Amino acid sequence: MTTTAESPHAAYFAFRDRLLGDLRTTVLTGDQLCEAGQVIYGRPEGLSLYGIPAPRMESAGIRLMGRTAIECCVDDYAVLVADALAALYATLPHGGGVPLVMDLFCGSGNFSHHLAARLGVTVHAAESDQDVHDATRHNLDRVGAATRLHLGDYKDLLGKIPARSNHDTYFVEPPWGPAFTPDGLDLTRTAPPVPRILDDISRSRDGRPCLIAIKTNDQIAHDSLDRAFADAEHLRSITPAPTLPRGANMHFHLYRLGSDTHR
Ligand SMILES: C[S@@+](CC[C@H](N)C(=O)[O-])C[C@H]1O[C@@H](n2cnc3c(N)ncnc32)[C@H](O)[C@@H]1O
Repeated sequence: MTTTAESPHAAYFAFRDRLLGDLRTTVLTGDQLCEAGQVIYGRPEGLSLYGIPAPRMESAGIRLMGRTAIECCVDDYAVLVADALAALYATLPHGGGVPLVMDLFCGSGNFSHHLAARLGVTVHAAESDQDVHDATRHNLDRVGAATRLHLGDYKDLLGKIPARSNHDTYFVEPPWGPAFTPDGLDLTRTAPPVPRILDDISRSRDGRPCLIAIKTNDQIAHDSLDRAFADAEHLRSITPAPTLPRGANMHFHLYRLGSDTHR
């Protein structure tokens, strides 16, 4: 393990660099998965996907590449977000049938897995990277997830599935790359930028309202979250207790995009 009592944060950043560098497309071994859990979440079991904690992933046949181990939303957080969305749906008027749920930047597919289980829906997910797609396809098959995983760009998926209701929900979590700066996360610099993704979603629905869920870190640069969602209604933020230095912890936000006079 690289963690030391003196420098847990340095160990985190060093390990993060490895996961996004030489281990980026390597399927992690059981030991590496446990190390990732320890370094990122303070205990091996903290890295848990599809209800399977890191110490059991290898024997369960789960394939996780380095980049996905750092990019993924783990069970503890995915459950919180799925619960928040279920609570929100419960307050909405009935009608319009089962909402469409889309995970536009699927990665590990753990969001999709928990949303499908909690909300009782089939989640449509897009993943453009062939290696991530193949690993995720394999994992979702192993755990029997109700996810339709499409290999390709999120815009292709948006173009394929028409709007269903004003409660249709889109998960937006593009790679951060250069958006992750010392000043915080700049959502205008994700790849693609968040404002452009919101435009693409809106256009695919002819402006019909919908719900958006987005993952950020706990340090937003240049007010870029508020500016990206300036025309949206903020519904809820989920801010788990920090375990890492500022800027490395995860937050989640729910918004209503588009004016909704027919709720
Ligand atoms: C930050 S990760 C998402 C992590 C995911 N929420 C999870 O829990 O594992 C972003 C993912 O989007 C994929 N991606 C990047 N550009 C994309 C695009 N244009 N369309 C679809 N997927 C894309 C990347 O390959 C990566 O796996």
